[in-house]
This record gives sequence, structure tokens and C-alpha cells, in this order.
Amino acid sequence: MSQPQTTQPVTSRPVTLGIDIGTSGVKAVALDAGGNVVASTTRTYPLLTPQPGWTEQRPQDWASATLDALKELAGTLKVDGRTPLALGLSGQMHGAVFLDESGEVIRPAPLWNDQRTGAAVDEIEAAILREELIARTGNRAVTGFQLPKVVWLRQAEPENFARLHKVLLPKDYLGYVLTSNFFTEPSDASGIGALNLAAKTWDMDVLNALSLSVDLFPEVVDSWAVVGQILPEMAAQTGLPADLKIVAGGGDNAAAGIGLGLGAHRPGVGSVSLGTSGVLFAPLDTPTPDPQGRVHLFAHADGGYNLLGVTLACAGALQWFHDALAPETDFADLLEEAATVPDGAEGVTFLPYLAGERSPLMNPDLRGSWSGLSLAHRRPHLVRALLEGTVCALSDTYKVMQPISSLTTLLSTGGGARSDLWLGLVSGALELPVQHIEHAPGAAEGAALLAMPAAGLFPDIKAVMDTLRPQGEAVVPQPMTQALKQHAAALETLPEL
Ligand code: XUL
Repeated sequence: MSQPQTTQPVTSRPVTLGIDIGTSGVKAVALDAGGNVVASTTRTYPLLTPQPGWTEQRPQDWASATLDALKELAGTLKVDGRTPLALGLSGQMHGAVFLDESGEVIRPAPLWNDQRTGAAVDEIEAAILREELIARTGNRAVTGFQLPKVVWLRQAEPENFARLHKVLLPKDYLGYVLTSNFFTEPSDASGIGALNLAAKTWDMDVLNALSLSVDLFPEVVDSWAVVGQILPEMAAQTGLPADLKIVAGGGDNAAAGIGLGLGAHRPGVGSVSLGTSGVLFAPLDTPTPDPQGRVHLFAHADGGYNLLGVTLACAGALQWFHDALAPETDFADLLEEAATVPDGAEGVTFLPYLAGERSPLMNPDLRGSWSGLSLAHRRPHLVRALLEGTVCALSDTYKVMQPISSLTTLLSTGGGARSDLWLGLVSGALELPVQHIEHAPGAAEGAALLAMPAAGLFPDIKAVMDTLRPQGEAVVPQPMTQALKQHAAALETLPEL
């Protein structure tokens, strides 16, 4: 009897998927092998603020929004005749999903911008000297990180802590929902505060000093590693293929860095994001922290490392100005007004610490101000000073990063990067050429790129980045000499830094 001829099926029109569990919603995308977005969708979910300074979300909301978004994506891809091979995960960093023994969520997850953990941060720094913590984990104890949230749970909600079996980061919870496996990867795990950066494993001395069991934390795998296959019930619910591979992925900043092609293999090229917060990303090949921990040091999703400077008020400061003082004026008009005012805003200075500050001042209690106002000043001066203030804060951050990772070019992304003036000010203040990326890939796209090696579309993540990285357009630098001088003088007037 002759056997029927079996041939290996050739995948037609392969795609990889990426999800980004953001703070305002989830984005899901599908990329073809050329890195083009062929389908994309978003879903929103609520942000809970049960007490001043607390920010939380329900992990179950992330899961149902993501599954819903994936269902839509699967439907679109089916119609287009495309085959999803692998899905990469990304999302907001630092959040804490507390699970009990049966995998049930114990309470809503405190987020990256939650400020409840002041006492927990003190407890951590009393148990481990700050310098020691920075040398091991790359960071001091930061209010928003995950480790202080675990210490907070033990202190504030002992009955919940007694039920705690695993604590997961937001995107890793989605990975658990999709595969039933517990895992994380270095780029997001380094935002917990207990990962030994050199070894990329949990630091037992840090955990022992806090009497926390390592079993609370998941296994750490490479960012491009396959962590499991989609569960049959999840494939059925979403319409995704039953053999879809789930890939560990990266924290949102690392995944966005992958999308921009940033890594230690391309030295000197970093990025600046003018989003709600301002973010400076600089790749490194060794885990070298700022000895005072004024900027973060994280593992990058390409296997290397990166410095991350986060200023808390950037485009968010202009949003605040618009909402509070000029709701009827378009952003474009406000920016146009600001362009008519010279460097230094004719003596007006704005300190942008509307939400306290992370890099480099690391002080949640700082607040914003305008100074130097006279009867001659008008709204354009206020806006100009506001833009200059946000850029000076980025410049302060860059000064801390520069001795560790000197950059030669910055790629720019984020809503504020649509303003040539704002970008020009960044270029002028940091004395760096800035290349604007018009449709910059975000974290969801980066996650889909991280899934490409698992899909067999590229041999490794560096090949993905080198082949698919976007091209930028040069920005004209704007003078910032006077603004920087005024900013330095205004910092001197702050009571305590
Ligand atoms: C990074 C950080 C934010 C979050 C939110 O340290 O806190 O960028 O990842 O998306």
C-alpha cells in the first residue's frame, strides 16, 4: 500500500503579533516579515485611584481587553489570509499582580506611577545599603518599582500577603493567562528591584535581607524565548492558531528600543521620547549604574543593558497647561506662539516638577513653578518657558548618563516630537543631533519584533533590528544657552534636592 505523500506546509503570508498592556489601554498589532503593520487594534480599561497617590488596575481587565483585541486581530488576519506564528508580550513596567495558589488575582495591581510605598522604600534601604542595592540591581529602591509593592503588601495587608503565591509583572500576567506558565524576562524583571543585573537572576542576598522567598518570583528567561504555546481554550476564545508560540517579550521601554533598533551593537545611538513623561534611553554593553542611582539601569531586551532616564513632566506639562489654562486653544497654536519668543523666554523660567521628579532628582515631593514674571510677559512666554523647562530637566538627566554611555545621536518619538521647536530645543540643550522618526514603532511593534526569531523569520533579534530599523529625519537645533543658565539658577533656589 502506498503512503500518502506528506509535505511540510509552507506558511502563507506569516505574521508575528505584539501586545502592549499600557496604562490607558492595550494595543495589539500584527507585523509581516518586512516589519510592516498589517493589522492593529486597541481596547481601553479603567485606571483606579482609590486613595490619593494610589494608582491601580484590575489585571482581569487587562486580560479581557487583550483577549478581545486579539480576537479582532485574528479575524482581520483570517480575512487577509495571513498566518500568526508567534506572539510577543510587552507592557507597562513595575506593576504588581498578586496571585494566590490557584492563580486567582488577590487584589487590584498597584502600577508603576503608584506612590504608596514610601515606608516600604525606607524598609528596603534600611535592610540593604543604597550603594549595595545600586551595585547589585542597578537601581536604588524606587517608589514605583515592584519590590516595594511586595513589602507594602506584607505590611499593609497581611491577610493578602499570607495568600500570596506568585507576583507577576503586567505583561507576564498576560503570558500566564495565555499559557498557564510563570515566567519573566530581564528587561522587565530589572524594574522589580531584586534582579542581580550582572547575573540576570534573582539576587538572593537582597531577597534574604528582606525575608522574601525567591519562590514568589517567576523564572527569568531570554526576552526572545518561547515560554509556551497558547492554551487550547485561549486559542478557541480568540480564534488564534492552536500552535501559536508565546514569546517572553520586553518591558515597554525596552520593546520600544527594539523597534527603534537600539542596542549595544549600535553604539552611540539612543532615543528621547517626549511623551507624558520624558524618557532618555541609552544602550550599554555592561551593567554600569550611576553610583547614586539618579537614572535607572535595566537589562535590555536584546541581551545587553540600557540606562533609562525618566523625567515625570514632559508633554504632560503642556497637556496640563492646555487643560488648566488654555482649553480652547489648539496645541499647535500654543507651540506656534512659543516659537515667537527667544531663548530664555525673556527672563521667565519654568521648573517642570508638576508630579515630583524621578531622574535625576529622585524626589516625589518637588513641585513646579514659573519665576521671573513681569507685566511685560504674555502667554507665549509661559509656554516657551514650559517647553524649555521640560528640556532642561532632560538635559539634567543626560548629564548623569553621559559619563556612562556617551551618545552621538538621539532618535525622537512621542507626541511632543511632532513639534520641530520642542525637538530643536532638545537638540540644542543636549548638544546632540536628533533624528525624528515619523511613525515610530512603539512597544507593541517591538514585542512583535521580539517574536520574529521564534517564528523562524530571522536568525536572532540583532538581525531583526538591523534589517527592520526605521530611518529618521534630521532636526534643526535651537539655542538653549540662556534657558539652561536660568534653569541652573532656579534649581539653586530649591530648598532641598
Ligand atoms: C519606566 C516607567 C514607565 C512605565 C510606564 O521606568 O516607569 O515608562 O514603564 O509605561
